[in-house]
Amino acid sequence: MGKPISTSSSASLNSSNQHTPVLLQEVLEALSPAENETYVDGTFGKGGYTRAILNAANCKVIAIDRDPEALPRAQVVKQDYPNRFTLLQGCFGNMDELIEQKVNGVALDIGVSSMQIDNAERGFSFREDGPLDMRMSRSGTSAADVVNNYSEKELADIIYKYGEERASRAIAKAIIKARKETPFTSTKQFAYVVRSVVYSSKKDKIDPATRTFQGLRIYVNDELGELERGLQAAENILEVGGRLAVVSFHSLEDRIVKTFLKNRSGNAPRGNRYLPESESKGPTPTFKMLSRKAIGPTDAEVEANPRARSARLRTAIRTDAPSRQEKEAA
Ligand SMILES: C[S@@+](CC[C@H](N)C(=O)[O-])C[C@H]1O[C@@H](n2cnc3c(N)ncnc32)[C@H](O)[C@@H]1O
Repeated sequence: MGKPISTSSSASLNSSNQHTPVLLQEVLEALSPAENETYVDGTFGKGGYTRAILNAANCKVIAIDRDPEALPRAQVVKQDYPNRFTLLQGCFGNMDELIEQKVNGVALDIGVSSMQIDNAERGFSFREDGPLDMRMSRSGTSAADVVNNYSEKELADIIYKYGEERASRAIAKAIIKARKETPFTSTKQFAYVVRSVVYSSKKDKIDPATRTFQGLRIYVNDELGELERGLQAAENILEVGGRLAVVSFHSLEDRIVKTFLKNRSGNAPRGNRYLPESESKGPTPTFKMLSRKAIGPTDAEVEANPRARSARLRTAIRTDAPSRQEKEAA
């Protein structure tokens, strides 16, 4: 197992302490926590899912978060559940290396937490000025490193692919021009340059810089790569009958989860109808989907927590087939 938290961590609690867990009841229903079982909460955040799972049954939770600021929050949970809770600092994409045992459920609540967005120092938001950082794990390449050093084409590709921003080329050009004068250091400075070239009509509900910020954030944290690795890792560590519940907030993420589950449950379009059935059938399904369609929030949840609006939950149950990685390695 990976390195558990030390109870003497000196990291301080974030000033903004608000994060309302999204689709919590639906995630709990999918996981169906039971006595003596072990669940992975791959995105600990403020521990909303973790606490709910621990309260639902006399079970264990191994939580993971890549953000060092999750550690002091985890200590609070540890005090309440000393023998049933562990937090590992790391990425859920490596959960099968961090956790050397099979588990009965895996929950993922993809993206950034409200605490991360609301803390200007983390550089995720342009509403208040802060360093252009955006690194969830506080290490590696920052957003400022990217915008100050990448080529115009690389920047346009990132903004287009991960931000789905049509004005990506104009934005990349403006970034190159602006950084020759002054390298980017702050979120407001960067948002100002983006807004200067993105046309925004009165009907637009979002700030013209939103998509570019999203694209940079997804790139800096390799969020889509993490999700793909996390799904594979979950397939590796789930027991037969183990449950997977993934909440995503963005169509790029939901598409990855949907494609993975379709593919792993035998619902992806098959190969060649002229081949014998045994050859055209594809590998044995490793998951059975618990519901064919993604589950969204109720109106009441959206009213209480507008951040839940775009949330989509997909759930599945592990079959007894070997994971694709195990099969390929054999
Ligand atoms: C949306 S919040 C989760 C909130 C949580 N469900 C709760 O109820 O408090 C996402 C959290 O996952 C963490 N995270 C995002 N991607 C991660 C990854 N690849 N590996 C580990 N943690 C990740 C973020 O640092 C953040 O704390």
